[in-house]
Amino acid sequence: MSNISIISGKSSEDLAIKLSSKIKANLVKSEIRIFADGESKITLNGKISKKKSVVLQSIYPPVDTNLIQALSLISKAKEISSEVIAVIPYMGYARQDREFLPGEIVTMKVLGKLFKGAGASKVIAVDIHSLIGFKHFNIKTKNVTAIPDLVRYFKKLRLKNPLVVSPDQGGKERAREFAREFGIEYIALEKKRDRKTGKVQIQTKNVDVTERDLVLVDDMISTGGSIVKATQFLKKQKCKRVYVACTHALLMNNAENEIKKAGVTKIVSTNTIPGKTSVVDISDTIAKSIV
Ligand code: R5P
Repeated sequence: MSNISIISGKSSEDLAIKLSSKIKANLVKSEIRIFADGESKITLNGKISKKKSVVLQSIYPPVDTNLIQALSLISKAKEISSEVIAVIPYMGYARQDREFLPGEIVTMKVLGKLFKGAGASKVIAVDIHSLIGFKHFNIKTKNVTAIPDLVRYFKKLRLKNPLVVSPDQGGKERAREFAREFGIEYIALEKKRDRKTGKVQIQTKNVDVTERDLVLVDDMISTGGSIVKATQFLKKQKCKRVYVACTHALLMNNAENEIKKAGVTKIVSTNTIPGKTSVVDISDTIAKSIV
């Protein structure tokens, strides 16, 4: 694997170190200086392979800064390598994959053009919000899932009569997959989001979860609104403990506190976004996706 360079963006440096040692690839780190006006100045440290480069950079906040850094790394890699794969563990903008209200710009279409224009021949994401996002890309794409990694973690916890719960119908397939891997059952709640204010409501009336430990599964937590509302509802239904399993924990503003206040015992996420809750490492899963 020494013919491969792993070019590490700052937002995924830890993951890049783990990945390069796993696949025995040459690691090229980036140094970043942010100017007073917000521009990024990027310097690469290391030799880029002429054959193949893998650029690793999650697009979490500051989203636009991390995006331009990802594109710049891809562009530089393409000047040297004949093949450039972009691994974007957390694909920011993936929720803007269709025109929900008239006039809304489908930003994923723009990202498709940008990644191609910068020189990526393939883009890989982990648990992208929806595969619809990748339909706007005119290059190869692949979505890999962190569900088996998350389930492995949860199997080690001593859960009482556990049940997997999706906070909404959109996440039903994800919950089904999580439950199948775990060997337990799942349910999906009905959630309604106001497209203008972003506020969420749980519309399900009753579920039988009495005295059961629940694992709320979602692709991502941003404001925490979905998890808070779902937990408040489930607690009223007399469940036991509520755990949260998500791939991408953005946990914006006060989300973590609000989630804990609602009664969640533990939030478990992966290192697509490094942070306090990111206890599940997905470098093995990424390694398998690029070989
Ligand atoms: C929505 O469809 C997604 O799967 C997540 O449930 C949502 O994006 C989480 O956002 P928030 O934490 O702001 O409710």
